[in-house]
Amino acid sequence: MCGIIGITSNKLVSSPIINSLKKLEYRGYDSAGIATIDSGYIKEVKCEGRVESLEEAVSKSKLTGNVGIGHVRWATHGIPNTINAHPHSSENVSVVHNGIIENSTLLKKFLINKGHKFKSQTDTEVIVHLITEYLKKDNLKDAIIKVLKKLHGSFALGIIFKDNPNLIVGARRGSPLAVGYGPGENYLGSDSYALKSMTNKISYLNDGEFCIIKKDNVEFFNKGGKKINKKILHLSSDEQNYEKGDYKHFMAKEIDEQPNTIKNCVNEYIDKINKDINIFNFPFKEKEIKSITLIGCGTAYHSCLIAKYWFEQLTSFDVSIDIASEFRYRKNKFKKDCLYVFVSQSGETADTYAALDLCNKNKMKTCSVVNVIESSIARDSKFVLPIHCGPEIGVASTKAFLGQMLVLYILCLKLAQKRKDISKKDYLKKIKNLLNLAELVKHSLATENKIQSICSSFIDAKGSMFLGRGYSFPVALEGALKLKELAYVHAEGYPAGEMKHGPLALIEDGMPVVVIAPRDQHYKKTISNMQEVIARGAKVLLITNKSKDEIYSENIWETIEVENTEDDLFPFLVTIPLQKLAYYSALKKGYDIDKPRNLAKSVTVE
Ligand code: F6R
Repeated sequence: MCGIIGITSNKLVSSPIINSLKKLEYRGYDSAGIATIDSGYIKEVKCEGRVESLEEAVSKSKLTGNVGIGHVRWATHGIPNTINAHPHSSENVSVVHNGIIENSTLLKKFLINKGHKFKSQTDTEVIVHLITEYLKKDNLKDAIIKVLKKLHGSFALGIIFKDNPNLIVGARRGSPLAVGYGPGENYLGSDSYALKSMTNKISYLNDGEFCIIKKDNVEFFNKGGKKINKKILHLSSDEQNYEKGDYKHFMAKEIDEQPNTIKNCVNEYIDKINKDINIFNFPFKEKEIKSITLIGCGTAYHSCLIAKYWFEQLTSFDVSIDIASEFRYRKNKFKKDCLYVFVSQSGETADTYAALDLCNKNKMKTCSVVNVIESSIARDSKFVLPIHCGPEIGVASTKAFLGQMLVLYILCLKLAQKRKDISKKDYLKKIKNLLNLAELVKHSLATENKIQSICSSFIDAKGSMFLGRGYSFPVALEGALKLKELAYVHAEGYPAGEMKHGPLALIEDGMPVVVIAPRDQHYKKTISNMQEVIARGAKVLLITNKSKDEIYSENIWETIEVENTEDDLFPFLVTIPLQKLAYYSALKKGYDIDKPRNLAKSVTVE
């Protein structure tokens, strides 16, 4: 959350900083700002709202300068307004920050006693004053080392100095930070995406490290100030994936890309000739693994929940799942024979990273399922299974969800085969089904017209429910989450069998209820639960699969039928109408679909 950019160059930097901020806007979009060293002074331009407004303000201000920093904010301390927007500056120091300084109140008291005056409500401003204070006695490097030691919490920082007008300092603890190398200029950014239009040569800071960036060289240091060497990575250029093309929103594009998501991932992992799954260099002995723990947040957690059903169905592992923000603070009994699997699109989610870090510190077997392979979670887990989705820009996760499910399913099948939990015949059959999955997913996209015609009922209602059993229960949770975050209407996901234990009381005349009931082992039971809500006045949208058999229920409001497949692959097909329902509901309400209110794509704070 929050995006950082810094550029030191022999050219003017305000315009490339604005362009990079536009790319970073998915990390936070409540306010934005820029500071440069302009004619020997620190000059800031900041505003509430989007980068578009900042661009206007910058062009009016005629900001110049060859060294500068920029920021897009997702508010933590202090409301989103111009004063709280970053950068925060003293006469000599200007700072952009992503993260939270947990001891800011104590530091603020200490600084006020020293005569420092604060303008904003942010935790970030203490960093500015602390550096200013230390610079009274120390040289720049020593001041930075001392300040970083004083800060508790998580941060990625970009700092510029009036008295050292040719450089930018970057520092990282917890929140991600990258350095880019260009001709006659160098960069600092929250991620490689922000830097991609300027360079494909990138280095990443590890936790505790800081760097001094000048236009013609970059030096890296560990937390003690010892100089360290860094690898320069050459990233592939996939700029076209960052464009919306003919689509109105990234989310619409990303939903439609899902057959390709499946195809790419299947091509990466499935050896079509030998009908086998390729997972190379798996660093653990399968015999030593007795249990699996799957950990993630939000949509990624839902993919873990679905995977639990697969692992229990197809393997003899003991399987647990956990929400990362809970796992990290519980008194866990770490198990040497457990494989800890961390699932994350961005690979930067603070809670998921902290849970991974905890497992690494306890010397556990760790593996990650990620989309961004240069991310912190990918870099710090012992084994990585990429989902090969390409960039996901819309804040709501769609194609990454399908990618996460697919990779978890593939991992499950491979481990089942290795442990001989699955017969050869079943293994081959499941691989064959996977080869056909992209085609089936394509059919699920064709539910557009019906969804468009019914979404008004969801947005006009007081609330809605999403129900399912078995694999369809996590899908119900995901459908409800999507509708909440995009259309801002209350939606609850529930196991269909739990309704009678309380939530049934919510059902009233005309309440829209989505029932996800493909014809799997739970079908009949779910249909009974559906009848119970219909009997109490609910308007039911039933999502099932095509079949010759009649549906034994009357008074269903609407039905959507996906293609037929094996039970364990239905989550891929029934998820898509739910994504479309959320998309069209938000579209009808005129909301900012790619940037829903109060949210951000990369959740790098707790
Ligand atoms: C919902 C959504 C979030 C993310 C969650 C984890 O549409 O996108 O719930 O799934 O913030 O993010 P990653 O997968 O990047 O760890």
